[in-house]
Amino acid sequence: MTTSGDIAGDATAGPFGLGRVLVVIPTYNERENLENIVGRVRATTPAADVLVVDDSSPDGTGELADRLAGADAHVKVLHRVGKEGLGAAYIAGFRWALARGYDVVVEMDADGSHQPEELGRLLRALREADLVIGARWVRGGEVVNWPRSREVLSRGSNFYARIVLGIPLRDATAGFRAFRAATLEKIGLDDVNSRGYCFQVDLALRALRLGLRVVEVPITFVERTHGASKMDRTVVAEAMWRVTVWGISRRKRSRPPRR
Ligand code: GDD
Ligand code: MN
Repeated sequence: MTTSGDIAGDATAGPFGLGRVLVVIPTYNERENLENIVGRVRATTPAADVLVVDDSSPDGTGELADRLAGADAHVKVLHRVGKEGLGAAYIAGFRWALARGYDVVVEMDADGSHQPEELGRLLRALREADLVIGARWVRGGEVVNWPRSREVLSRGSNFYARIVLGIPLRDATAGFRAFRAATLEKIGLDDVNSRGYCFQVDLALRALRLGLRVVEVPITFVERTHGASKMDRTVVAEAMWRVTVWGISRRKRSRPPRR
């Protein structure tokens, strides 16, 4: 496979001199949303490539992605055989990006919740950071049109993660992010087992433990108007137990040796 590499290898080019940027968009049943989001990314950040990672959506999102890729050389598609979770889809997309020499990898939802118009702010912040998180629960950040139940879940999970893991982040579960490729390489993706949304906390925690610079910038998260969230009880349960296990192992590690 080839990638459009007009600025390949030139890390002084690309948005904010960051080099080649790949925006990874995971999809499962996002047919009504995909064209809009891809079009907006291409309009706001024309130098960036887009990779759609589709888990064989039954609604035909994968075929739509192929059509968009056929019309624009900056749009690529990675087809996966079945629904394996958001974390697994991102890891596949990250590997795809690293294998092709991208310098920056962005995470973005397909449903319009993450606004491509705010991507420039994340990239600008990445000049002084190794991982930038587009955060909702910081000053200046907000969520539009979420039911109260979703806000309580998100704030609750973030509070739990912050306390149990001892991390300084206000929105460790957020899914609008920009990584330097070097950050993903340092993290090493081989032993990341998180399948679902706790993948977000997992990677933030790993970056912090490596001493990397993790910066939160405020975003406005806009709840989708088409289709449905894939968040379910399994996703929440996996996040709860994994964060708890990470918290316990942290305590074990930081306990002073007994004499
Ligand atoms: N390929 C693939 N496979 N894509 C998936 C899968 C999967 O198993 N599960 C979800 N996605 C895609 C969706 O199609 C969408 O583009 C994106 O991942 C986000 O999924 P949503 O289901 O819309 O997530 P959400 O709005 O409930 O959750 C958002 O907030 C969470 C924290 O509160 C996301 O931004 C999450 O990343 C974030 O953790
Ligand atoms: Mn969503």
